[in-house]
Amino acid sequence: VRPIFSVDEARLRARRRLPRMVFDFVDGAAEDEVTMQANRGAFASIALRPRRLVDVSERDQSTTVLGTPIAMPVLLAPTGLSRLVSRHGEPAVARAAGANGTVYTLSTMASASLEEVAAAATGPLWFQLYPWNDEQLVKALVRRAQDLGYGALVVAVDTPLVGKRERDARNGFTIPPRFGPRTAVDIIRHPRWLRDGLAARSIGFANLGAAANTSVVSAAKFVNENLVNPSADIRYLDELRRLWRGPLVVKGLMTGEDARRAVDAGADAVVVSNHGGRQLDGEPATVTVLSEVISAVGREAEVYIDGGIRRGTDVLKCIALGARACFVGRPYLYGLAAGGEQGVGEILRILHAEIDAGLALLGRPRLSDVGIDAVRLPA
Ligand SMILES: Cc1cc2nc3c(=O)[nH]c(=O)nc-3n(C[C@H](O)[C@H](O)[C@H](O)COP(=O)(O)O)c2cc1C
Repeated sequence: VRPIFSVDEARLRARRRLPRMVFDFVDGAAEDEVTMQANRGAFASIALRPRRLVDVSERDQSTTVLGTPIAMPVLLAPTGLSRLVSRHGEPAVARAAGANGTVYTLSTMASASLEEVAAAATGPLWFQLYPWNDEQLVKALVRRAQDLGYGALVVAVDTPLVGKRERDARNGFTIPPRFGPRTAVDIIRHPRWLRDGLAARSIGFANLGAAANTSVVSAAKFVNENLVNPSADIRYLDELRRLWRGPLVVKGLMTGEDARRAVDAGADAVVVSNHGGRQLDGEPATVTVLSEVISAVGREAEVYIDGGIRRGTDVLKCIALGARACFVGRPYLYGLAAGGEQGVGEILRILHAEIDAGLALLGRPRLSDVGIDAVRLPA
């Protein structure tokens, strides 16, 4: 097998390997996908300010997140239903994260259970929770995560309803994926994905109980009709703070004010995120609001970011602007589609190598040397 040499290369492989509807579920975003494109575009408009004639013979990109040591400043973001892209699914992602010294955040919407992933993992795990409407379910999830040793609870607050993902609607994408008038040809044209056992296996939300997996439905419609909790406000976060005994991370913030409210409610860290552009199209690129969030809470809480990170230099730009670490979502799913656990590992090794080279070429051998003077912002 030819080695993968970049995240974009893995994306092209995933596109060949997966039925269109599955690729689009991963690759797509809300409405006109303006926000998703903005996430990428903003990195292109931030330039680096290299320092020459510095000894960069020894470099170190290791850091800590909420006290947990990690080998690189890149964590794996929560993504639902990873078994769609490879039958190895979430356990394979957890193993690859552990092998490469970083954290994997399991999603509420995962296609493997908290227990299964905890048993497979070889490194630190965090659990992402949606503040869904079923109080018993939420309490049980928090308890399970606590008992299984998940190191932080990541509450995603950007989903009072699921964004309008038009590629999914156009493709007739359902959970589980089924042969239908719009999908049969697509599936048959990807025999490798079929052979992988995917069509046979019933893919569903492994942590949400039988009720969530009874019928073939559009995922967005199902979640909007059965799970979301549009009335959740800051009091919900207060309750979770009382319920969960470990570090609390609030994911999906895009303003300084909201970061302030989250930290006042007891968050130990926040994730600047627009959900990879999959929720409200029209939000700005995450990296353009990073400084605002750092100014609001950076002294008291760790600030992470995700959205459009595809290169080691994107990570270094975020670090320069004050982020503690970055998350990636689609990149590791492309890797998972292209090569299972090994593919996810490849993606992490590519990013590690790019960050390492970036530190050398920037003339800043340690992550802690990468400050605001390492970037030139657009005028
Ligand atoms: C296929 C897919 C599923 C996702 N599912 C979830 C989820 O269940 N919970 C969540 O908090 N975020 C979810 N996200 C958002 C990611 O956690 C992350 O914010 C986003 O992917 C970052 O952007 P990037 O893909 O450009 O790296 C999902 C993203 C993708 C691509």
